[in-house]
Amino acid sequence: MIELFKDLKTTSDQGITSWEAPSNIALVKYWGKFKDQIPANPSLSFTLSNCHSKTTLNYRLRSEFSDDYSIDFYLDDEPKEDFIPKIKTFFDRIEAYLPFLKSYDFEIRSTNSFPHSSGIASSASGMAALALCLLEMTVKSIEETNSEDFYQKASFLARLGSGSGCRSIEGPLVQWGSTPSISNSSDLFGIPYPTDIHPVFENYQDCILIVHKGSKAVSSTVGHQLMENHPFAKQRFAQAHQHIEKLISILQSGDLIAFVELVELEALTLHAMMLTSNPNFILMKPNTLAIIEKVREFRAHTGIPICFTLDAGANVHLLYPHKDAIASFDFILKDLVAYCENQQYICDQLGMGAKRLS
Ligand code: PMV
Repeated sequence: MIELFKDLKTTSDQGITSWEAPSNIALVKYWGKFKDQIPANPSLSFTLSNCHSKTTLNYRLRSEFSDDYSIDFYLDDEPKEDFIPKIKTFFDRIEAYLPFLKSYDFEIRSTNSFPHSSGIASSASGMAALALCLLEMTVKSIEETNSEDFYQKASFLARLGSGSGCRSIEGPLVQWGSTPSISNSSDLFGIPYPTDIHPVFENYQDCILIVHKGSKAVSSTVGHQLMENHPFAKQRFAQAHQHIEKLISILQSGDLIAFVELVELEALTLHAMMLTSNPNFILMKPNTLAIIEKVREFRAHTGIPICFTLDAGANVHLLYPHKDAIASFDFILKDLVAYCENQQYICDQLGMGAKRLS
């Protein structure tokens, strides 16, 4: 892998790079990691379309040597000092691959398409966009930014900023973490899902119900750590491999009954790990559970294969086929929006991955 980054150099003394990178939602969840952001189990995600971060990187060669990074960071045009330690940690982790980071003054400007107080994590899309901007500093021609090699390197770097960020480079589905059922899978970067997908998954919808906008009581970093001595960790990691294998045939056959069952089981298993760690914690809210019950009732009555998934928080992602979008959205408006904080929700669907901005 070090080979992949051999001799990476910057190609100019100053410049601007700009990328949009999407958010993603895992169907099979990554929860638990080893050193250097190596996942304890494989995961597979839908890349989103409307939820994304846009980042612009301005860089200029420094006149004097310094042993620290020079970073100014702006979110929505406001300087945000409190983001800088996280970016420095990211730079520390990737400096071995991009050895020029201390030689430049960087100004990073980022915006998210989703409200930053919405409780939707922006670290995956934000780190992915920044990784792409930094990597573009090394290309000799812009055509290189369209290559599979470029995306793989960007995913490798993004992983070191935010684990799930390595799944925020390509689309519409990305798999990360070495597993026997996908021959070219890797712990080091996400890969575009390599097997056939049934047409029912084209334009698959994700409506994100914002149940709780505040910051989480327990961060993902702590949650991952709590898997280290978790009594059920071994079974959970084995189950994730089995779920990837099952999902491969579900995605191929378009069996939505099996899809619903597996996706909901994954979401609840993620939260079951939180409920049974030491110390334990609960990120779901009463309205999360109320929505889950309503979704199951609606599905039983109508036969529409809408299902829920959760990330490490209280918000609910509702997944459904494009052909059921109207009926599902009616149901969301009529029965579910009342459970959202300030009635907030975001409609999204499968997306094709990051874009270079001119
Ligand atoms: O990338 P992190 O460290 O924020 O962890 C993400 C973990 C989950 O969102 C809960 C699951 C996943 O696979 O995205």
